[in-house]
Amino acid sequence: MKNQTIKEILHHLNKQRGFDFSGYRISMLERRVQKRVFATHSENLDDYLSYLKQNPDELDNLIDVFTINVSRFFRNSFSFEYLNKMILSELILSKSKENNNSLRVWSAGCSFGEEPYSMAIILKEFLEKEESSIKPIIFATDIDKKALKRASVGTYSFESIKEVKYGILNTYFNQVDEKFILAPKIKQMVQFSFYDLLDQNSLAPPDSIFGSFDIVLCRNVLIYFEPEYQKIIFNKLYKSLNKNGYLILGEAEVPIDEFKHKFKRENKCSKIYRKIG
Ligand SMILES: C[S@@+](CC[C@H](N)C(=O)[O-])C[C@H]1O[C@@H](n2cnc3c(N)ncnc32)[C@H](O)[C@@H]1O
Repeated sequence: MKNQTIKEILHHLNKQRGFDFSGYRISMLERRVQKRVFATHSENLDDYLSYLKQNPDELDNLIDVFTINVSRFFRNSFSFEYLNKMILSELILSKSKENNNSLRVWSAGCSFGEEPYSMAIILKEFLEKEESSIKPIIFATDIDKKALKRASVGTYSFESIKEVKYGILNTYFNQVDEKFILAPKIKQMVQFSFYDLLDQNSLAPPDSIFGSFDIVLCRNVLIYFEPEYQKIIFNKLYKSLNKNGYLILGEAEVPIDEFKHKFKRENKCSKIYRKIG
């Protein structure tokens, strides 16, 4: 009964705004809708559904509670350090051997931009140190347009930067009162665009034109989806990666069964996988 009303709420949201949340874990959705039931003083889910139909602005609040944007710079810092110390030099060497001057990165489910900007900082530092002529291109996508807008502004609170090392903070952020403003030279390295990972008509964000990524970060996104929808996303991530490209997942995520043999885990301490073949 409860699940039926949740499905009706999702159907209404999809019809009105085109967002399809039907692949999200139902238990997670229910917990989130309950927040709105409480906030709108509705008596129960059915009451909330009527409220939603009568108050179209409430759709925005519902989308907000569904899209969980929690992120921070250098989240799970081990992955970034491993990339920096163990992966980039080899990746760049193989690029030079192929006479290929570009390094393509995709942050899928980028939230407010902390993840792709962390990647941009690492790449900037690495390429400058190596005096490399490689040109990194970082695509960052999300389904949440409000988050994308904030990401392109590049201004953060202390919560977002609390894991950033002093040297990096000092070099790439300018503190004004309580805000930390990211340097334009880092902002310029990232292209943000809207992209729904469940979109069945494309294998990579249209803004990236053809995918072919060397590194794909899709962290703390898959956990929200039912396994059959994770499969749609994994298929996309796999196909959008170059041969031997790297997939970086969140700490609580692993490749689903159908894809386990298509990726090799780089080490036990991080969720970095290398595409096989
Ligand atoms: C918890 S955040 C993760 C942010 C970042 N990757 C990290 O690990 O810090 C999850 C993000 O996934 C986005 N998201 C959820 N469903 C999505 C979908 N179908 N397509 C694209 N992004 C989605 C949300 O809007 C949210 O910004």
